[in-house]
Amino acid sequence: MGDSAVLLLLCSTIFFSISIPSKSIPDSITPNRTVTANETLVSSQGNFELGLFNKSKNWYLGIWYKKISPGTVVWVANRVVPLTDPSGVLRIVNPGILVLLNSSGTLIWSSNSSTLVLNPIAQLLDSGNLVVRDQNDPDPENFLWQSFDYPSDNFLPGMKFGKNLKTGLDRYFTSWKSSGDPSPGDFTYRLDPSGDPQLIMRSGDVVKFRSGPWNGLRFSGFPQMGPNTVYAFGFVFNQEEVYYYFTLVNDSIVTRLVLNPNGQIQRFAWVDRTRGWVLYSSAQTDNCDTYALCGAYGTCNINRSPPCGCLKGFEAKFQQDWDKADWSLMGGGSGCLIWFGDLIDIREYIENGQDLYMRMAASEIGMEQPTFIN
Ligand SMILES: *[C@@H]1O[C@H](CO)[C@@H](O)[C@H](O)[C@H]1NC(C)=O
Ligand SMILES: *[C@@H]1O[C@H](CO)[C@@H](O)[C@H](O)[C@H]1NC(C)=O
Ligand SMILES: *[C@@H]1O[C@H](CO)[C@@H](O)[C@H](O)[C@H]1NC(C)=O
Ligand SMILES: *[C@@H]1O[C@H](CO)[C@@H](O)[C@H](O)[C@H]1NC(C)=O
Ligand SMILES: *[C@@H]1O[C@H](CO)[C@@H](O)[C@H](O)[C@H]1NC(C)=O
Ligand SMILES: *[C@@H]1O[C@H](CO)[C@@H](O)[C@H](O)[C@H]1NC(C)=O
Repeated sequence: MGDSAVLLLLCSTIFFSISIPSKSIPDSITPNRTVTANETLVSSQGNFELGLFNKSKNWYLGIWYKKISPGTVVWVANRVVPLTDPSGVLRIVNPGILVLLNSSGTLIWSSNSSTLVLNPIAQLLDSGNLVVRDQNDPDPENFLWQSFDYPSDNFLPGMKFGKNLKTGLDRYFTSWKSSGDPSPGDFTYRLDPSGDPQLIMRSGDVVKFRSGPWNGLRFSGFPQMGPNTVYAFGFVFNQEEVYYYFTLVNDSIVTRLVLNPNGQIQRFAWVDRTRGWVLYSSAQTDNCDTYALCGAYGTCNINRSPPCGCLKGFEAKFQQDWDKADWSLMGGGSGCLIWFGDLIDIREYIENGQDLYMRMAASEIGMEQPTFIN
């Protein structure tokens, strides 16, 4: 996530071909206009395209980068129920619902909305956001539905990663099952608003990684995150919503964050010169980022060998296992910052770390009992 230019490694990108010749139509559709299998919607500046693509025998409605990287799908509508052939049709029906039907007219996927409007349109914006709105009302506050509220695995500039505390809408990411299967995979990356909000990546229900809380400058677990030439970022936390967002610093450098099918959280940047994505940074930088690696009251320092140590005043409960590099001894723990149970998932940083204060009996850290003088 941070400004780690050292991580400029070439990454392999997954390409697929859109095998049906497609005809682009303008960026929006009204109820009297459908998007059929061999058509696509293209955003006004040509940044993004919406249409059907296939992975082996399955067909999906998705959004990808049109200009720079047609192989990079950033959003998929019908992840759970694919089309079995490329003959589906997308239409917007009154009073403002998007529906994807297969060729027998069976509903495969639909958007939803609790608001009704007279003249609904569906429009693909240049941000990559597919929105349903009233034809005469472009105010984002009044969108009936938007794909940015139901992300797939890609976090794009303009999205809110987090929660609307009033409506309960929770915008989080779910990995693909594999690079050839967009159906929901095991991993989710979600903002946990309890205590001090932080980002938590899970495999199923099991916490695998957390960002640490926002400390006003960055998430405490991303010490390398800072001002850079590729993206700017911020965190909004008020009574209505809590979310993390980022924006492009210069439109000529496109960047996105993705939760990969293997649970890696990676930021990629597009390099025009080589016409490829480069890995810009990874959330998980080393073994110390594995959640709770060192167990309760343990602390991880990647520059130490082995990396796990005990907090001052603590010693390993089962020294033999500890020596054999089983540093946890017990699993579980809470993602909340105010710990009432065991202290877990602590790591040390060379810079941009934060002080940890613990209140404990002086006798437990080998200090003399203080003498009180009246
Ligand atoms: C489709 O509907 C829009 C308004 O919703 C109207 O402007 C347009 O003329 C209609 N097109 C056709 C072919 O009926
Ligand atoms: C593709 O578009 C052509 C017209 O451009 C149309 O005749 C044909 O039926 C379309 N094919 C499908 C599968 O929708
Ligand atoms: C998409 O389908 C075509 C045949 O319809 C096939 O040749 C191609 O390999 C498929 N693409 C992917 C990525 O599976
Ligand atoms: C449309 O979907 C229904 C329900 O899944 C299925 O029974 C039907 O065969 C599908 N039609 C086509 C042409 O795939
Ligand atoms: C829309 O659908 C999602 C997912 O199915 C659901 O969580 C949400 O409550 C629905 N919203 C409305 C306004 O119906
Ligand atoms: C954005 O990047 C382009 C190409 O590298 C450069 O020419 C331009 O000056 C940059 N704009 C800003 C505001 O930095």
